[in-house]
Amino acid sequence: MIAQHYKDMLGGKSVIREISEWSTARGAEIGYDNVFDYSLGNPSVPCPAEFTESCRRLLDSCDPVTLHGYSPTLTLPAVRAAVAKSLNRRFGMDYTADHIFMTSGAAGALAHALRCVAVPGQNILTFAPYFPEYKPYVEGAGLTLRVVPPRTEDFQIDFDAMEALLDADTAAVLINTPNNPSGAVYSARTLTELADRLKAAGKRFGHRIFLISDEPYREILFGGQSFAYPAKFYDDTLTCYSFSKSLSVPGERIGYLAACPRCEEASLIVPMCGQISRGIGHNCPSSMIQLAAADCLDVTSDLQVYETNMELIWDELKRLGFTVVKPDGTFYIFPKALEEDANAFCRKAMAYDLALVPGDTFGCPGYFRMAYCVGTEKVRRSFAALERFVSREYGIEV
Ligand SMILES: Cc1ncc(COP(=O)(O)O)c(C=O)c1O
Repeated sequence: MIAQHYKDMLGGKSVIREISEWSTARGAEIGYDNVFDYSLGNPSVPCPAEFTESCRRLLDSCDPVTLHGYSPTLTLPAVRAAVAKSLNRRFGMDYTADHIFMTSGAAGALAHALRCVAVPGQNILTFAPYFPEYKPYVEGAGLTLRVVPPRTEDFQIDFDAMEALLDADTAAVLINTPNNPSGAVYSARTLTELADRLKAAGKRFGHRIFLISDEPYREILFGGQSFAYPAKFYDDTLTCYSFSKSLSVPGERIGYLAACPRCEEASLIVPMCGQISRGIGHNCPSSMIQLAAADCLDVTSDLQVYETNMELIWDELKRLGFTVVKPDGTFYIFPKALEEDANAFCRKAMAYDLALVPGDTFGCPGYFRMAYCVGTEKVRRSFAALERFVSREYGIEV
């Protein structure tokens, strides 16, 4: 007998993927250059030369049996040590290799983090708008995702709304900073209050509540700002990272989990990850890619294009009268749609060859996401379509 649960999921496929597939199909008709595809968060810039060179050097100089062999259950010690050192230098932490576990992307890190701190039947709190894959990640671990309604004026945290959803069965709070889809970065003030609230709730419920911090966009920050590192604010933090966006290597599936050295049972988290990976099959990420990522801890792709695109789109959206919070990072922007039903809004946009993603899929109806990981020239060309769309459909003349 096949598993009904996954059969049922076939009816609820990723809306983002569906819109992206529409863009591809439309591109086959009119040329992909003429489709303004703001659907998918796939990096648009190449990986840094250092990554390519590192892969080449490894291929040329390493024993192939070792290079292409299984990595240890707890992943490569030298790579874990290098990641710890880099995090300590950048964020004033005190990780050792024992706190780092290499994973297949942030998805793999989250799969381990959730299973480290929660048992089936418990719940995980996250904040709208949120990355839609959190639902399958959390439910796949036998947990329930509870979504705190958005604070739309700045996409920081509505703490009263959070408190209303916390209960004795809450195992962890899952945050994503910088945020997909809003582009908001949690401020030091937000993280300080979050830490205070979680400590108090932990005392109230008689067990620690973990913070799982998902940070694949940590390197894409605008305006030269520095990053408020959540584990610095709250000891019971598991940080989940991915090189997908910073090095533009999402297909290589590489990231890590970092357990704060002061979290509950800190010395057991990584060994537990080794056991979890046996069960979920997210085990032993490619040895070569672990080594190449470790060679590139201090570099990124040329990420400047995302800020350039953000500024252009921000100006254009404001000019057209949209309500929108200016992103602090990522390659997403999350404006309010021009009608209550963002699905209808995004459907109408398709007639102008604009691929936009309705906010419902991020738990925030009435808004829409634009992923501006596209060439700047195309961004500029899309403005004529955007202007035609809002003028014809909503009578906006500028
Ligand atoms: C917020 C967020 N978390 C996790 C992931 C998964 O990252 P990866 O593909 O590196 O596993 C993504 C990917 O887009 C993301 O946007």
